[in-house]
Amino acid sequence: MSKEEKKLFIQTLGCQMNDTDSQHIIAELKEHKNYITTDQMEEADLIIINTCSVREKPVQKLFSEIGQFNIKKKKDAKIGVCGCTASHLGEDIIKRAPYVDFVVGARNISKIKDVVDKKGSVEIDIDYDDSTYQFAQNSNSLYKTSVNISIGCDKECTYCIVPATRGDEISIPPEMIVEQVQKDVAKGAKEVTLLGQNVNSYGRRFSDGREKTNFTKLLQEVSKIEGLERIRFTSPHPLHMDDEFIEEFAKNPKISKCIHMPLQSGSTQVLKAMKRGYTKEWFLNRAKKIRDLVPNVRITTDIIVAFPGESQEDFEDTIDVIKQVKFDQIFNFKYSPRPNTKALEFKDLEIEDEIGSARLIEVIELHKLHQSELMDSNIGKTVEVLFESLKPNGEIAGFTDNYCQVFVKGSDELLGQIVKVKITDATRTALKGEVVN
Ligand code: 5AD
Ligand code: SF4
Repeated sequence: MSKEEKKLFIQTLGCQMNDTDSQHIIAELKEHKNYITTDQMEEADLIIINTCSVREKPVQKLFSEIGQFNIKKKKDAKIGVCGCTASHLGEDIIKRAPYVDFVVGARNISKIKDVVDKKGSVEIDIDYDDSTYQFAQNSNSLYKTSVNISIGCDKECTYCIVPATRGDEISIPPEMIVEQVQKDVAKGAKEVTLLGQNVNSYGRRFSDGREKTNFTKLLQEVSKIEGLERIRFTSPHPLHMDDEFIEEFAKNPKISKCIHMPLQSGSTQVLKAMKRGYTKEWFLNRAKKIRDLVPNVRITTDIIVAFPGESQEDFEDTIDVIKQVKFDQIFNFKYSPRPNTKALEFKDLEIEDEIGSARLIEVIELHKLHQSELMDSNIGKTVEVLFESLKPNGEIAGFTDNYCQVFVKGSDELLGQIVKVKITDATRTALKGEVVN
């Protein structure tokens, strides 16, 4: 280690956008401030927590966590709070925890290199536009990479704090996205995940005021990149799943056949109160079209139970959609009231906690049945797997084209390769198989 190198410990909570934001923080601090990462908080010169505020629990945990950091950290080590909770609590973080050195909100992270040395800095401007900022590059060679395609969110889902923490949606210019993916492919990436709060509303607003485009066109551009084998994206919005998009998803061989369709609720009435912009019928119609065109598709979803005013009948609608679509994976949440959201106005309609918990369990139990059935149906099939990590037990792990995890016995020679595997066994969350020679 050269004399001036300092150590950075970074903890990332929340979504994949936060993961890429953390990668950007690491790269910026490495390039401009000579930091290298460490996984030992106690030896770090700088400790950063990149926070999430979508639900209340992680926010409550923030202060106990940074309190622990403050007790255990090296003398003179700095502490920074970044991400969505930084945006929403701002300088209150420093008021409550005066040992915090700086606070940098979700769409301000391009300022990180200037902020780390300014004790007491609070950078949380939600109108700040870093959509054309050229972040420093991390030299990690990865088989897969993630690239942001937009910042912010223009939707007004009534339960969601994100528009208040990440601001309005601005798309990143397509040529910057393509250039970034090309660079990552040159370093060994075979797969890219395009990231945004709402990826398929891409192209409606750019900071240079250029002409609009759309997500389908972006997918077509990215798929021209030579050496890139798989394209994934998250999260799309069911409302913007038009026929053109679904047809591109189905026919473009580079697009991974796994799609996230965040349902949130199966009740048209609740969807209306959530301001999701679609009905139960629209969702079912889109899911059916996708299943009809892409027989091996895996469909994942997010579901919120016990949204204020959700009756038993509304909840039965959610169960009905789950039964009809049979999701491959469900991320379940109990409604959590969040500051700066419209749903706070429905406080009188909030559902008792026990009812919420019971509904959550019902969703989980039903989903487990579907998961077992869907995963077992893979046994005997031959699939293509991109291998990406070696496990301590001598197994090697990778993902199928429809993004199912697969383990085989194998050596590191398989890393970064797409290889045919015959599936021999299945659990609810992963497959086991043998390489087909
Ligand atoms: N309460 C519970 N779940 C929420 N989500 C977003 N806001 C809330 C909230 N207030 C869930 C949604 C979203 C996922 C990322 O988090 O399902 O799709
Ligand atoms: Fe939140 Fe809705 Fe935007 Fe997703 S689409 S980030 S749920 S406001």
